[in-house]
Amino acid sequence: MNRLNLAVEISKTVGFYLMQFFGKAKNIEEKENFQDLVTEHDKKAQEMIIQEIKKYFPDDNILAEENNTKDMGENQWVIDPIDGTLNYIHGLPNFCISIAYYENKSPLIGVVYNPFTEEMFLAMKNQGAYLNHSKLEIKDINDLKFSIGSVGFSRKFTGKFIEKVENKVQRIRILGSAALSACYVAANKFDFFIAKRANPWDIAAAYLIVKEAGGEIINFQGNTPKIFERESYIFSKPSILEDIKNITNEIGGGV
Ligand code: IPD
Ligand code: CA
Ligand code: CA
Ligand code: CA
Repeated sequence: MNRLNLAVEISKTVGFYLMQFFGKAKNIEEKENFQDLVTEHDKKAQEMIIQEIKKYFPDDNILAEENNTKDMGENQWVIDPIDGTLNYIHGLPNFCISIAYYENKSPLIGVVYNPFTEEMFLAMKNQGAYLNHSKLEIKDINDLKFSIGSVGFSRKFTGKFIEKVENKVQRIRILGSAALSACYVAANKFDFFIAKRANPWDIAAAYLIVKEAGGEIINFQGNTPKIFERESYIFSKPSILEDIKNITNEIGGGV
């Protein structure tokens, strides 16, 4: 078993498990507040992934969202068992399993799987990104006014951002899954996606998928994002990156 196959196979197994409770999740609990929820399926999905990794790579380190699984080291997995828990609870199809593998903080493998649509996004360092069996290559656009983009929901930021761009772009969409939204940039479904505050597990896999597809990724300050910290992100097609960055700078903030 190599690590890429492990990530692909376990995400399909977990996806099959999750689909049984889609829109009818059990044991929903609040984490930090009433908008931040976890279900027994987030926990079970995470356990399934960790168990499979530990079976084949017992010495690897795992950082995962639920249950404080935060073991850091050289051979680092980063897992979000369900990205888009709120969508999953409400029976909205924008959710996914996100599994990444890093060595010495450098991304080697990224897998993002939506079990509802059966879209499998994957990337390996220097070997390209794929959506199911099609290679992903970003097609640049040279004018913001032909773009459709997305922004993560962040209090006091998202509203301002939409107000600033609504007359400059075709439309803005909000999916409710940061990992999927970033993968949609890799797949040319979106031209940009910005997130004011994302955790490592939201982005670790999609980061490599967008990079390998030829996308640009910076934080709101214009620097290379620090994946292992809470970070701001702009995922974009090359020609419109500067415009998006200027708009976020006008609002200020990030992280
Ligand atoms: C959330 C989703 C959502 C984003 C939040 C994330 P979760 O992840 O990606 O789109 O706006 O910031 O926390 O909690 O569903 O894994
Ligand atoms: Ca969560
Ligand atoms: Ca997440
Ligand atoms: Ca999650």
